[in-house]
Amino acid sequence: MKTELTERLGIEHPIILPGMTYISTPELVAAVSNAGGLGLLATGRRSTAETRAMIHRVRELTDKPFGVGLPLILPGAKENAKVALEEKVPVINYSLGKGDWITEEAHRYGAQVIATVVTEKHALAACHYGADAIQATGHEAAAHGGAVTSLVLVPRIADLVDVPVIATGGFVDGRGLAAALSLGAHGIAMGSRLAMCQESPVHLRTKDVILQKTIHDTLYTDQYDGMDCRVMSTPATEKVFSQNANILTALGMSLSLAKQMNISWLKMFTSTLLRGPKTTMQLAMMANASETSRLAIEEGDLDNGVQLIGQGLGLIEDLPAANEIIERVVSQAESVFQQHNP
Ligand SMILES: Cc1cc2nc3c(=O)[nH]c(=O)nc-3n(C[C@H](O)[C@H](O)[C@H](O)COP(=O)(O)O)c2cc1C
Repeated sequence: MKTELTERLGIEHPIILPGMTYISTPELVAAVSNAGGLGLLATGRRSTAETRAMIHRVRELTDKPFGVGLPLILPGAKENAKVALEEKVPVINYSLGKGDWITEEAHRYGAQVIATVVTEKHALAACHYGADAIQATGHEAAAHGGAVTSLVLVPRIADLVDVPVIATGGFVDGRGLAAALSLGAHGIAMGSRLAMCQESPVHLRTKDVILQKTIHDTLYTDQYDGMDCRVMSTPATEKVFSQNANILTALGMSLSLAKQMNISWLKMFTSTLLRGPKTTMQLAMMANASETSRLAIEEGDLDNGVQLIGQGLGLIEDLPAANEIIERVVSQAESVFQQHNP
């Protein structure tokens, strides 16, 4: 299925795997890119050495375009961005921060830049700095979707910008893709749906729980990582939130984060302090939240872990391979359009 987005990114279908921490591994990225979509590699909580090795691994598994996701608010993101730029990754995606310098460097070697935003203001700023596509993330999304639903946010941003828009948040099937294109988007990103495929590293125990959940079983709260964030509601989530709110636990967790990412904790802590007490507390909470996210994904531990997931979880009923999901989404969207334009 061709759109302005597929032309720009050199891909077959307008479907993106977002850079989901712990989930968008080289294997899943390559599976999506090989199926004609675009996989974005997650770099959150990874050291520069790990990021470089993962980029090399993607290149072993696919010769199709792929990208790297950079959540700029996280410690180590700038260093990982430099690795992605050195490696001349064809698509660079940034979120949760200002990506002007990244855009400039990426354009020097001909990469495409996707900016993830949740407001019109940030979409316009990203375009001002030269973004080639805007990923507009609505309220339904897993993790940090905005306050406004995709149904309203996507057409608003599509009206304002003159680059392709990737509708994100709540898109899990071909009806969603058809709807997104009708709203003025040029493609979709699917996080929750592609987290629930065979190649996804989400633990089978957690996948089984997600399959049982309904569209009502998520929480949108700032109690998890200090920002408005959507997570799966489980009997243990409230308990985990109360631990996350504890500054001592969170600071301890930031030590292990610095160790895992091979960066100096003191440097991380002082540069964070300079950004003010609110950011310090938020980063400490994010460090803790990211460990509980790992427990859910890698260990299937939902007593101490928390799973990021979107409202679309209630529409997901199976665990097919990534290429089957992509084929299904494209053919369902095409048949929606045929039904209405016989
Ligand atoms: C487990 C998980 C981890 C995620 N991690 C990140 C991340 O590190 N950076 C980011 O920008 N978005 C992250 N997201 C959000 C996705 O990029 C995307 O915005 C979201 O999944 C879209 O909504 P959907 O799940 O309804 O498709 C994550 C989502 C999930 C489910």
